[in-house]
Amino acid sequence: MDERVISNIPEAYHVNEPVPEQEPERQEFFVSLCRNMIKANREEGRILRYAIVTFGCQMNAHDSDRMRGLLEQIGYVEAPEKEADLVIYNTCTVRENANQKLYGHLGQLKALKRENKDLLIGICGCMMQQPEVVEHIRKSYPFVDILFGTYNLHRLPELIYLRLYEDKHAIEILPEPREHVEIRGAKRKYPFKSGVNIMYGCNNFCTYCIVPYVRGRERSRTPEDILQDVRDLVQDGVCEIMLLGQNVNSYGTNFMEPSAIIDADPDFGFPKLLDAVCQIPGLQRVRFMTPHPKDLSDELIDVIRRNPKVCRHIHLPVQSGSTEVLRKMNRRYTKEHYLTLVQKIREALPDVSLTTDIMIGFPGETEADFQETLDVVRQAQYDQAYTFIYSRRTGTPAAVMEQVPEDVVKDRFDRLLKVVSEIAHTRCGRFEGQTVEVLVEERNAQDPNLLTGRLENNLLVHFSGEDSLIGQFVQVKLTKAHGFYYTGEIPS
Ligand code: 5AD
Ligand code: SF4
Repeated sequence: MDERVISNIPEAYHVNEPVPEQEPERQEFFVSLCRNMIKANREEGRILRYAIVTFGCQMNAHDSDRMRGLLEQIGYVEAPEKEADLVIYNTCTVRENANQKLYGHLGQLKALKRENKDLLIGICGCMMQQPEVVEHIRKSYPFVDILFGTYNLHRLPELIYLRLYEDKHAIEILPEPREHVEIRGAKRKYPFKSGVNIMYGCNNFCTYCIVPYVRGRERSRTPEDILQDVRDLVQDGVCEIMLLGQNVNSYGTNFMEPSAIIDADPDFGFPKLLDAVCQIPGLQRVRFMTPHPKDLSDELIDVIRRNPKVCRHIHLPVQSGSTEVLRKMNRRYTKEHYLTLVQKIREALPDVSLTTDIMIGFPGETEADFQETLDVVRQAQYDQAYTFIYSRRTGTPAAVMEQVPEDVVKDRFDRLLKVVSEIAHTRCGRFEGQTVEVLVEERNAQDPNLLTGRLENNLLVHFSGEDSLIGQFVQVKLTKAHGFYYTGEIPS
């Protein structure tokens, strides 16, 4: 095994033992020390609780699951944010409003902290990799106890220990590491589905995007480690996985080992990995997020076509329909390339659902550029499009380009939304009347008489059924389409 893994913490560490220098033994040591602290509290009748509040993407959600796994190994019990003794905010900084959301939350926490002196507050994630943000938090929110970034999640046990026993603010923002310590034993929201990281970081440097600066260079996990993870998850009851990476198509460009980043095996890219994952017995659905249109290969389309386990849903961010804007964004494809790709995908996978990300108001975007975007939306016929207003990120090349006035952006955004939702509405409804396989996820929060299941294309259907169906695949007739979800019934 190439990776260092934190799991199966031994019971036997004691405070007076020397602190191991190597990971993962070091964190196992601190898990064990913190666990003693939790035990002592329990003996006095006090159960310590935690909450993790997650902002942002699937990658962050998965990181939070991994931290939840660590905290549960320590002995913390999950609770709502307001009842927790330890609250961790896992932040996103892809757009400025994500930053504002965190500051809003921190403002409210001051009062909570005054009520409960023992409350520990931690902040981690992408925002913390920006020095000016860390500086601002230290100055304006001095009551925050623990700060760490995207490269040292696995060191959370040590940071908690430092804060509790040495009464120091535990602030550790690291530069990009040469080695990687994987955390196994993530606590999943659903027992039957899970994300699996296949790579970390991004090398694409789209000119608007902060991700390459806060998540570092691309580092792929070895195929052996990924496949072993998936096999273990299947053993543990998982039937659906999502392979995660900022651009899964460049999987395998740089592999990482514990002590170094090594060169690629040029023959083992994402298509081969996906194919290998599909061969794992017991696994029933495979998704992946996100492929970049610049290098989505024919080989990948063919692997999807040959493997019915791969869900017929592809999220293919277009960002803009104007070749000129795409060039300024450093996306490295043209409008024509993108549309040809869409056509190829639709020919190979006629039932596929396509979704996308679109950004409005990138610097220099003209009305003619915007019309090109509308044209792509009409031609590509997306089932869903996530639309964003361009947000200026300090340190990215686009931040110093000439910005589009706010009212012009707002007007384009509204017009885009109208076109996108009309198309999505019709596209999503196209399965009405059909009986399809769904994975039943949970009881419906609004109407407890109903179960909620997920279609292969990621849409939800609500229907009545027994609790015993949760986690199972069932055939459901989609009786009525309601925009972005269905109501249905199990055919008798
Ligand atoms: N402003 C607005 N949207 C952005 N995204 C990335 N960076 C920015 C930014 N600076 C969007 C892109 C990406 C999605 C995850 O977030 O559309 O695909
Ligand atoms: Fe950001 Fe582009 Fe990398 Fe996606 S591919 S994370 S948009 S730089």
